[in-house]
Amino acid sequence: MSLQTLLNDLGGAGKKAGRSRQQRLYDLLRRAILDGVLPQGWNLPGSREMAREYGLSRNTVIYAYELLRAEGFVLSDRRGTRVATLTLAAPQESTGDGTEPLKLSVRGQHMGLERHGGEHLPFAAGVPDVNLFPWRQWFKHLEHAWKSAGARHLAYAPIGGERRLREAIAMQLGITRGISCTADQVLVTSGAQTAIDVCGRLLADQGDVAWIEAPGYPSARAILGASGLKLVDVPVDAHGMAASPALWRRHPPKLILVTPSHQYPMGGVMPLEHRMELLGHAQRHQSWIVEDDYDSDLQHSGAVIPAIQSLATQSAVVYVGTFSKSLYPGLRIGYLVLPAWISKRFSEAVQLLFTPGQALEQLALARFMESGDLARHLRHMRGVYRERQQCMREQLEQQFGDRVRILGGKAGVHLTCVFAPGTDDVAIARKAAALGVTARPLSGYGSQGVNRTTIPGLVLGYGVADAQQICQLIPRLRQAYDDVIHP
Ligand SMILES: Cc1ncc(COP(=O)(O)O)c(C=O)c1O
Repeated sequence: MSLQTLLNDLGGAGKKAGRSRQQRLYDLLRRAILDGVLPQGWNLPGSREMAREYGLSRNTVIYAYELLRAEGFVLSDRRGTRVATLTLAAPQESTGDGTEPLKLSVRGQHMGLERHGGEHLPFAAGVPDVNLFPWRQWFKHLEHAWKSAGARHLAYAPIGGERRLREAIAMQLGITRGISCTADQVLVTSGAQTAIDVCGRLLADQGDVAWIEAPGYPSARAILGASGLKLVDVPVDAHGMAASPALWRRHPPKLILVTPSHQYPMGGVMPLEHRMELLGHAQRHQSWIVEDDYDSDLQHSGAVIPAIQSLATQSAVVYVGTFSKSLYPGLRIGYLVLPAWISKRFSEAVQLLFTPGQALEQLALARFMESGDLARHLRHMRGVYRERQQCMREQLEQQFGDRVRILGGKAGVHLTCVFAPGTDDVAIARKAAALGVTARPLSGYGSQGVNRTTIPGLVLGYGVADAQQICQLIPRLRQAYDDVIHP
């Protein structure tokens, strides 16, 4: 490419908003040097000649040359200005010398969730209805937090979180989950994902066995796997995690991640006697239980079984909660409740791994809880979700009959339908996405390796779809299903 062609771009494609002519000339020359278009040692025209030849002001040229010189791209001396000798990195994708471009780590290559439709589309799983979020009340508390804020609130939040929020959470858990804990035992995190992550890193060591539910929460699998734990799939039944005596003997776990109140995504609720059994086994095998209670505040009706953590306060149980379902996922506030004997050491150890922020959101949330606004919002949303779930069940039964088994319990924001073995749920999800419906294939919730757990089905959220949409869209899902089964 000649200098002329290069500089033609100065007024054309190279014209970027907010960049002066001088800066654009500098940008073009710098890019041309880095791409090897202007070869090393090549003499640039003198500033006067360059200005005359290419219709630029001399100051523009001097400015660009001076900047290139200061950054080391060109050298200037008595003989003029020439391109410096630089060891340029070859672009990774075109090394051309047979070496492979760098890839993700092996762990990274095995991670990833194929997306079938966006999180905003109807039936996106696990997303609450943010259209019904109480904006006005939230804004009032947030405004109050900002108005009474000092400079310290713009720094990192205190380790463990804002005291006032930790107290509000401890108080709420006592009322709603039978958990008796102090604010010192509550550690505020960036959502449940961070809570699970720090548990994996601080309660178990690389190579230790971690039990996870299969099917289970894909992020938890990825997070614990990324900590170097040896994951062992535990099957689930209508009562949630169902570990056989043989599994306890063969693969005793250091850490057990379990969703006992509403197994994700199959919906099983672990009865009290199973919870006690799990506690007993865990105690004998010196295993930590991490209890992910992600949506128990959205139980649609009936009494909620006490959290495992509340059954044995002296046991090695860490409770995980989140405001992602009850308020909004973008808030990124979750928490851990640690056993009293370990909370101080855990908080000290966590400091280098995770520094919390959002002090003002935390304060607003504390006030939101104290004022009763959260309880009111949850009461309203439970009713909304109960009706939507009912509607979705009826529609699925009508459209699919005995082609699906509908699971999901009576809580939260999703239902799961299970197809006959061998059904290609990924193909159905793809077809559904093309028809404007997000439906996550259930096979993606099991392990992805050789021993892939493949229960085909779809996980369907009703957080983003109201009753009218559900009635309109379940027939499309049936169409997607038919297109795959009878192409
Ligand atoms: C089983 C389970 N646990 C936890 C979470 C929430 O995680 P976070 O608080 O990081 O949004 C989800 C969200 O989808 C979930 O499905």
